Amino acid sequence: TTIACIFDLDGVLVDTAVYHYQAWKKLANSLGFDFSEAQNEQLKGVNRMRSLDMILNWGRVTKTAAEKEELATLKNSWYVDMINKMSVSEVLPGSLNLLKALKAQGIKIALGSASKNSGLILERTELAHFFDAIVDGNAVTTSKPDPEVFIKGAELLNAAAADCIVFEDAAAGVQAAIAADMAVIGIGTAANLPGADEYYKDLSAITVEGLINLVKSKHS
Ligand code: BG6
Ligand code: MG
Repeated sequence: TTIACIFDLDGVLVDTAVYHYQAWKKLANSLGFDFSEAQNEQLKGVNRMRSLDMILNWGRVTKTAAEKEELATLKNSWYVDMINKMSVSEVLPGSLNLLKALKAQGIKIALGSASKNSGLILERTELAHFFDAIVDGNAVTTSKPDPEVFIKGAELLNAAAADCIVFEDAAAGVQAAIAADMAVIGIGTAANLPGADEYYKDLSAITVEGLINLVKSKHS
């Protein structure tokens, strides 16, 4: 069985989900309201503008398109300040070992992220060289849960959807993988990520053999 792996970035390979949360929280606070950690879960995997729309809606705040552009840019400037200081130490447990094991076996690897900052993050964390294809927020027009990002990733890897495994920490991302007809490993819990094939707290317990077995069992 040939498999191909498509990794989400924020919250799967690197510990940036917390920076997104801090920056959005600061923006909401500056507008005079707050949102909960449960609400923050709903933002994961969702692109920048759509996230802003959800947050403004929670705060019952209405803004013009031009104002929204400014707010999104402000949030991103805070976020970029944080990721600019990142290093390899913020690569999540198990990520490096799994990427190395996949590479050693000749398994193709793609990035499937909503972020427009993926280039900077991959560079700061020294992960860029692992990827055979990169599909990020600059390359897609629709946000997860739409499957576009993963379908494009599979295309660039020349892989059939049935051979792809997606790694996701976001409910929207798990939905996108399901919509793409791909196997999906949830980094998190079944409560937060309904519909994934398997769940792990991080990538450290995942083996190449286990991934091959997952794809085989989905086929049968
Ligand atoms: C996703 C994050 O990976 O990227 C979301 O889970 C974020 O929280 C989205 O909104 C877009 O990121 P960026 O870096 O383009 O603002
Ligand atoms: Mg994520």
